[in-house]
Amino acid sequence: MLFEPFSLSPHITFSNRMVMAPMTRRRAENDDLAANDLMALYYRQRASCGLIIAEGSQISPQAYGYTNSPGCFTRKQVAGWKKVTGAVHQEGGKIFLQLWHVGPYSHALLQPGQQSPLSASPVKPDGEVLTSRGRLPYDWARAMTKEDIWQTIADFGKAAANASQAGFDGVEIHGAHAYVIDQFIMDGTNKRNDEFGGSVENRSKFLFLIVEEVLKYLPPEKVGLRLSPASVKPRMEDSQPLKTYGYIVEKLNDYQLAYLHISEMMTPEERMSSPLRGVVPFYRNLYKGNLISCGGHTAESATRMLKEDQADLIAFGKPFISNPDLVDKLKNSIPLTPWEKDTFYHGGEKGYVDY
Ligand SMILES: Cc1cc2nc3c(=O)[nH]c(=O)nc-3n(C[C@H](O)[C@H](O)[C@H](O)COP(=O)(O)O)c2cc1C
Repeated sequence: MLFEPFSLSPHITFSNRMVMAPMTRRRAENDDLAANDLMALYYRQRASCGLIIAEGSQISPQAYGYTNSPGCFTRKQVAGWKKVTGAVHQEGGKIFLQLWHVGPYSHALLQPGQQSPLSASPVKPDGEVLTSRGRLPYDWARAMTKEDIWQTIADFGKAAANASQAGFDGVEIHGAHAYVIDQFIMDGTNKRNDEFGGSVENRSKFLFLIVEEVLKYLPPEKVGLRLSPASVKPRMEDSQPLKTYGYIVEKLNDYQLAYLHISEMMTPEERMSSPLRGVVPFYRNLYKGNLISCGGHTAESATRMLKEDQADLIAFGKPFISNPDLVDKLKNSIPLTPWEKDTFYHGGEKGYVDY
């Protein structure tokens, strides 16, 4: 089943059910965060999967937190992405762009006017971030004002329009992994007492306003959403994830999006021992549209999920880094090349286009 074509909608068909998961590789141009020829080659090499979801791309200067990760808010960036979409389409592939705002995972040195990074409420993530002065602890993020909120919603819409202009077949809204949208969703991070905080209806308002804004520019069959109901970052949690994300997933049925992409951020073994194990079947029951499962998949686990009708498409992340020909390898049971972590986020061509 994994290698059979899949019709996402009457107008969009993928050549197989394998999706390349969005992966930040930090190879964009230093000065303008535009995609370049090297990135076009990288994505071209991987175009035999049904759908590529290109790496998280900033929707605005405030959305930025990871140096050399690309943007989609300037003309130069749109021109850069055109090289990528052209290369993938030449190979007969399909490509969506993941739209990203890092929220608190940034530093004032990376923000316009050296302002504090933005989030639902004041928060300081654990860990460090690379800045112009080397690696520094994450800054305290400040709570977004109403103006910040409406600006960010508008920025998501504009970035979607830019992505479409750059030739992408669609966009994926990044609602996962404790970045800005997830900061609003989770009660561990959203301490607001206005209409964007409190109940799950209020905490998910920001997400649904973003979805509605993006739908002003693109038809629903070109808009996907990624959520991570089972992902846990230190101190970035929801107290009742099944209830919270269950509410969101049921409400998503009203929008008839291209797909819901569930990132499990766990290996199959971790999943078995986690209290949140089996989250995909839980959301499968609630969600009526296309569902992508991602996280630690092998050919066996992917095939099992499709056969048991737990998902429509299976996304692979790290295996695609070191196996551009992953579709062919899985199809013909060819052993996989292991990935090298050292070059995930830097290294130019090395560990990027030389596998
Ligand atoms: C190098 C790297 C970069 C990643 N960047 C992103 C990203 O930009 N957006 C996102 O939603 N997930 C990102 N992820 C998570 C992957 O999309 C995927 O969910 C994760 O790797 C688990 O799938 P896998 O076990 O098949 O690798 C990244 C993962 C890796 C390894």
